[in-house]
Amino acid sequence: MDEIPIRLRPVAEDDLPMFQRFLTEPFLIGLDWAGFRDAQEPPRRFAADGYLGEDRGRLIVEVEQESAAAGFVSYVSRLYGGVAPHWEIGIALLPEWRGRGIGWRAQAMLCDYLFSHTPVRRIAAGTHAENTAEQKSLVKAGFQLEGVIRAGEFRAGQWRDGYLYSRLRDDPSPL
Ligand SMILES: CC(C)(COP(=O)(O)OP(=O)(O)OC[C@H]1O[C@@H](n2cnc3c(N)ncnc32)[C@H](O)[C@@H]1OP(=O)(O)O)[C@@H](O)C(=O)NCCC(=O)NCCS
Repeated sequence: MDEIPIRLRPVAEDDLPMFQRFLTEPFLIGLDWAGFRDAQEPPRRFAADGYLGEDRGRLIVEVEQESAAAGFVSYVSRLYGGVAPHWEIGIALLPEWRGRGIGWRAQAMLCDYLFSHTPVRRIAAGTHAENTAEQKSLVKAGFQLEGVIRAGEFRAGQWRDGYLYSRLRDDPSPL
């Protein structure tokens, strides 16, 4: 399969309807669907910081040739202990762009970007026990499985286990 060229870019106003779809169309976002959410939150957030805040942000995954927004990657600052935070990243692609080699590369690109522009040592990512695509994507993006977070999230009517992964600054980039 030929690689689809992608890049990460800042969110633009035209991307807000996609974010609103993820908040209001059941399961468009996949297993992370958590019920209907305020569709006015994306314009508020965009006006506040353009999704490029100091401690959290989003970037659009753009398919270069078509200038199409395939989805977004996200990052949020977390503190495990001590004084130095790490990033936790996430991703959601629109269904038509899934399974085409974009997800793992977008997450690898986001790690390279965050390691390049911030001094963090660790980037974490969680996923669901049944999310094989994301588990494989994270490993291809240079992450290692750290363990199972037992009953870590309430989702689809039950407390469910999660899988926690990380990539450290010294781990090789697959790109
Ligand atoms: C999870 C997600 C980011 C993966 O990105 P993707 O572009 O679909 O995946 P890729 O094409 O990069 O594939 C990466 C690996 O996963 C495998 N894969 C992709 N889709 C799969 C599926 N539905 N079932 C099993 N494996 C799958 C690929 O074969 C590849 O592994 P391989 O190289 O060993 O063959 C994307 O599917 C998505 O956005 N899903 C909905 C939102 C979501 O689940 N986000 C993560 C929440 S924790």
